[in-house]
Amino acid sequence: MFGFQVACKTIADGIAASKLAKEAGAQFLDINCGCPIHEATRRGMGSAMLRKPRALAKMVAGIAAESELPVTVKVRLGENDKKINVDSVVRFLERAGAAAVTVHGRTAEQRYKKAADWGRVGELARSSSVPIIGNGDILTHYEARARLEESGCAAVMAGRGALIKPWLFLEFKEGRELLLTTSERVGVYRLLVSYMKEHFGDDERGRRKAWYFFPWHFDFLTRYRPLPEAVYGAQSREHPLILTRQDLTDPRIDALWDAASDADAVAALERIGAERCAGWEEEVRAGGREAGDPSRGGGLGSTEQRG
Ligand SMILES: Cc1cc2nc3c(=O)[nH]c(=O)nc-3n(C[C@H](O)[C@H](O)[C@H](O)COP(=O)(O)O)c2cc1C
Repeated sequence: MFGFQVACKTIADGIAASKLAKEAGAQFLDINCGCPIHEATRRGMGSAMLRKPRALAKMVAGIAAESELPVTVKVRLGENDKKINVDSVVRFLERAGAAAVTVHGRTAEQRYKKAADWGRVGELARSSSVPIIGNGDILTHYEARARLEESGCAAVMAGRGALIKPWLFLEFKEGRELLLTTSERVGVYRLLVSYMKEHFGDDERGRRKAWYFFPWHFDFLTRYRPLPEAVYGAQSREHPLILTRQDLTDPRIDALWDAASDADAVAALERIGAERCAGWEEEVRAGGREAGDPSRGGGLGSTEQRG
């Protein structure tokens, strides 16, 4: 299913966006009322729309009345801890005719600090007639499944998890980890390249435009590591894996610090890379063998430190 998202603050802009979305083949229009960045909020859009639920509902009702596409809305819990008003926002949106509401379980001020509040997302899901799509901190297929089942949401949404591991959706569909080999992962990166060539043009100009986006994507893609359920399932129930603090000691820094020459540094970094891959593979194999054994949950500290 393909949807089209806009940030807008007038009915006219929303209707115009809906027409464009329809022409582009979209099946729904989503209105972004969760974005906390200044660029959006200073213009009264994104999470700034949460300040006035009545005005937001009026806009959504106006767009929904004219739109040929179902209109959904994406929100956060509120502006900050003292202004959590998602219950009232959802009630207004229900009456305004929203087809679904995606709730990111954090406030705008919170950005990505602390875990998303799935307790509150679940309360909303259980008390609303409009379908609630829960969002926040989903990195693995088993976290997605657990959130979906425990919250009672109609669906769950992944943001960063999908940027880190674009095959997350397939894992969810198949209900298992897909442990892609290096060449399969390169295939995914090349697919991204092919989309960029299609979008920006397969020429020097297109290549330069793509340069702006690749570092950003690779920042996410390089955060990937296999997290098999048999090894990390129990830990994920304690704390979302996406928020699990990485070990701050990093042998790569030591390698660079201690190297007497560039060649020494290259050799040390290659050795560390190979050791890590071997460690992960071993961990995955161990997880696979003991899949389903709940006692595996206790011994994660040491494996986590390797990440
Ligand atoms: C780089 C980046 C860009 C984002 N852009 C949007 C956006 O355009 N619209 C939107 O509704 N949310 C956007 N988000 C927020 C995500 O949709 C999502 O609500 C948030 O990351 C929490 O989900 P997660 O914990 O699964 O990442 C963005 C998040 C990130 C990290």
